Amino acid sequence: PNRPPVVFHWIPVFGSAASYGMDPYKFFEDNRKKFGDVFTFVMLGRHITVALGPRGNDFVLNAKHSDVSAEEAYAHLTTPVFGKGVIYDCPNARLMEQKKFAKSALTTGAFRSYVPLIVNEVRQYWLKSPQFFGGDSNRASNKTHLMTAMPEMTIFTASRTLQGREVRAKFDESFADLYHDLDRGFTPIHFVFPNIPIPATFNRDKAQRKISDTYMEVIRERRRTGDLSEQDVLNTFLRDAVYKDGVRMSDREIANMMIGILMGGQHTSAATSTWALMHLGADKALRDALYQEQVEVCGPELRELTYDDLQNMPLLNNTIRETLRMHPPLHSLMRFVRHDLTIEGTRYVVPRGHYVLAAPGVPMIDSQYFKEPLKFQPERWLEQKNIIDLAAQDQDYTVVSKGAKSPYLPFGAGRHRCIGEQFAYVQLGTILAMFVREFEWSLPNGRAVPTPDYSSMVTLPAEPSDIVWTRRR
Ligand code: HEM
Repeated sequence: PNRPPVVFHWIPVFGSAASYGMDPYKFFEDNRKKFGDVFTFVMLGRHITVALGPRGNDFVLNAKHSDVSAEEAYAHLTTPVFGKGVIYDCPNARLMEQKKFAKSALTTGAFRSYVPLIVNEVRQYWLKSPQFFGGDSNRASNKTHLMTAMPEMTIFTASRTLQGREVRAKFDESFADLYHDLDRGFTPIHFVFPNIPIPATFNRDKAQRKISDTYMEVIRERRRTGDLSEQDVLNTFLRDAVYKDGVRMSDREIANMMIGILMGGQHTSAATSTWALMHLGADKALRDALYQEQVEVCGPELRELTYDDLQNMPLLNNTIRETLRMHPPLHSLMRFVRHDLTIEGTRYVVPRGHYVLAAPGVPMIDSQYFKEPLKFQPERWLEQKNIIDLAAQDQDYTVVSKGAKSPYLPFGAGRHRCIGEQFAYVQLGTILAMFVREFEWSLPNGRAVPTPDYSSMVTLPAEPSDIVWTRRR
């Protein structure tokens, strides 16, 4: 059978690990020029077939579960971090139901209650953190290291809204350090060597146990008091997490699910808000337009932001959309191949035992789909201008489509698609709107937006990630 072309490499087994790992997008682009949209590379003994473009997205993300599996591609990395019995440490049918439980908590009603909670967390953070006012509420200007501040604001706002008051309070005690330890065991090294005997690995395992035990205590306390009044995801699991076959999720599984949900939204959202603040720092006209939008929707007094206000702010939402176009946090979505797979429209067969890889970020910066793709232009989404009209070219897909055959998929597609998209827009929208209202900011010394750094699990801006700000009022 016809195998896809294989990327040349000097060192057997090790393969293309270095060039892929250092700059995956350059690696994809270089090989696309040589081979087209489909090619195989070797990395540390694994054979990985890349399928680029909208058709590649569709091939990988819409493949049948009987043919490919995400759990066999990810579990060795995620199970030590999330814990047992959930996400990729269970049959796929269970994951589908776990996602449904979580999704059922993320309603418009819940989002309405989350916005004021996020507003409050952001204010508290500014007041207390040395990255902002540091307790001196008169401080008028400062420099902030975004890669310190944004992960903290992300985890405080996500834990307060998705997991409730008591869980949020734990972050003022032990949780912050424990989650930090968990993070340091969630790296590309652990993707390759899940149990590499280094302190980061031992600390990861210790932190996982302690965090999971702490959620169990919270769960027991909620059951004891019977107070399930908050609209958080944890309460939804406590009430409703019974699988179709009648099996109830155990408290341990619910605890581990809470870790999975928080980790799923943590690096992705923190990276996205950092990139957005960087682009805004480099573009005064856009900052001004966003401020104007705040005034138009909330009045010159800038009354407290609500969920419904956010829905009336197209420029704000398009700023997030554009940030995710240029900087999707996840550059590679992988599946393990369980049965030989023919790639539609090609002569190629990918044999079982290999992996397939979708890289949704590649078409997102391709001039075939987006005019001037390397320009940050939130306005392009307003009238769909600077987005190539594919329907007019007789293509059987459009740029913004529900299916997997799309060039714009920052949240993936198919059965493993993200459940956190709407929450992410609420969280990011609220945080960014708060920044626009409170601060004027820029990148120090007129620097440009940083280049990407691919050395952690998500695509981050290379250091330094500082902004300098002054207060508007
Ligand atoms: C899945 C991106 C926020 C929970 C995914 C996938 C992507 C993604 C690309 C598909 C992975 C794959 O196919 O291999 C993002 C981005 C986010 C974000 C860009 C923010 C900007 C969140 C949040 C949550 C979350 C806030 C939790 C509330 C999940 C879950 C899955 C998922 C549970 C399903 C995994 C699966 O079915 O295998 N996300 N995510 N994500 N995400 Fe997100």
